[in-house]
Amino acid sequence: MGQHQLKFYYKNVTAGVLGKEHGITEEQFKHLAAKSEPLIKQLNADRKSGRIRYRDLPYQDKTAEQVKNIAEQFKWCRNFVVLGIGGSALGNIALQTALNPYMYNLDASQRKGPRLFVFDNVDPQQMSSFLNWLDGELDKTVFNVISKSGRTAETAAQFLTVCKMLEGKFGREALKKHIIATTDPKEGTLRKIVDEFGLRSLEVPDGVGGRFSVLSPVGLLSAAICGIDIVQLLAGAADMDKKVSDVNFYKNPAAVNAAINYHYYNRNKRISVMMPYSFALKDLADWYRQLWAESLGKAKDLAGKDVFVGPTPVKALGATDQHSQVQLYREGPNDKLFTFLAVEDFDIDVQIGPAPEVALELEYLTNQKMSRLLNSEKLATEYALIASQRPCITVIFEKICPYTIGQFIYLFETSTSIAGMLFGINAYDQPAVELGKEATFALMGKSEYAELGERIKPFAKIDDQFII
Ligand code: PA5
Repeated sequence: MGQHQLKFYYKNVTAGVLGKEHGITEEQFKHLAAKSEPLIKQLNADRKSGRIRYRDLPYQDKTAEQVKNIAEQFKWCRNFVVLGIGGSALGNIALQTALNPYMYNLDASQRKGPRLFVFDNVDPQQMSSFLNWLDGELDKTVFNVISKSGRTAETAAQFLTVCKMLEGKFGREALKKHIIATTDPKEGTLRKIVDEFGLRSLEVPDGVGGRFSVLSPVGLLSAAICGIDIVQLLAGAADMDKKVSDVNFYKNPAAVNAAINYHYYNRNKRISVMMPYSFALKDLADWYRQLWAESLGKAKDLAGKDVFVGPTPVKALGATDQHSQVQLYREGPNDKLFTFLAVEDFDIDVQIGPAPEVALELEYLTNQKMSRLLNSEKLATEYALIASQRPCITVIFEKICPYTIGQFIYLFETSTSIAGMLFGINAYDQPAVELGKEATFALMGKSEYAELGERIKPFAKIDDQFII
């Protein structure tokens, strides 16, 4: 088709490479295939019956059109600020880092849209520094508040702060010009505010959870406004849809990835390290970390039995973390599965300068391409890990472009669904996050949570006996 492809390479988890103790034998793969194939069929059926709504996002042509139109209407803005957290921010950050240049915000010649800022925290120092700078730019700024529920404390706090700032400067009517909300189509706090204030809005599709929503307006608007080809992004996801729907286990990269993770989890390799050898891909590892952790870390299985499962996702960056983590990865406990992200063609390259006469030991670098060095470091690290019997997968990007990024997102989302089925848990909820959210409400004085506030009180008091 002429489109760049994403390739999933897993030879370096096999017993042929790692030996029987740490590698997966053909027999074990057969067993994993037999366990996975009915699950792929079930997932396909669930999806057909509308229960797995994120799977249909690549085909939302109308939504893509709507997003592109809105992006067009906001062409006047110089700064586009996303307010959101978790699944309402990580995808936006990942797309921007992957598909726009490193100096996008600082160098106008390197960008096709406004500067992009994604605020996913309530750190007063960070926020006040930003707002101080933004004050002089407010008339050229648009805020995209993203929250499915609208009651997430962090996003709500940012939103209220920004509304006050805009209203104070330009009056209430200006909210309509400077804010667009992305939220639940019908319900929730933010939807109420949108209706009351007549704000522009986009919808988080019904049945699509935060961490599975990057291919919905949640991730698409900031991408489109910053010049990313969202049609290609969705086309890449649709391409991957065909592969991850294949009921032949060995042809289905999402199933093979889930099964490898499941196999190693059951053999005490419970840490899953994603290590991109590309700065552009580094925030995809962050996005994956949330997807994997929040979806698969569960106390109960589907029958309600205590299971306390969940691989621990870790992100690292090559080559940077070779000088920080690899000592542990090679000589520490053999309890990790490594997933490298590698790029075949970086499109742009840098030629290394010549070594001076006095440092001929650096001559091997002279005039070499930077991409060759980075990819050599990836292979060298993988080789060293394999020498220590550590299992390694590589996801290969022929190029980093919207099409391959769309494929990657869809691959890992579907892999998460299949892994959830293998573990026998619900991959789509996050009950454990609730208590912390409610405790925050209590500590912030929300009256309905007063009783919980009382229970937290002993923990708020610092016990001098334990201070050193
Ligand atoms: O994946 C999830 O569901 C969460 O990470 C949510 O995205 C996050 O908690 C933010 O929720 P909301 O969009 O309701 O503000």
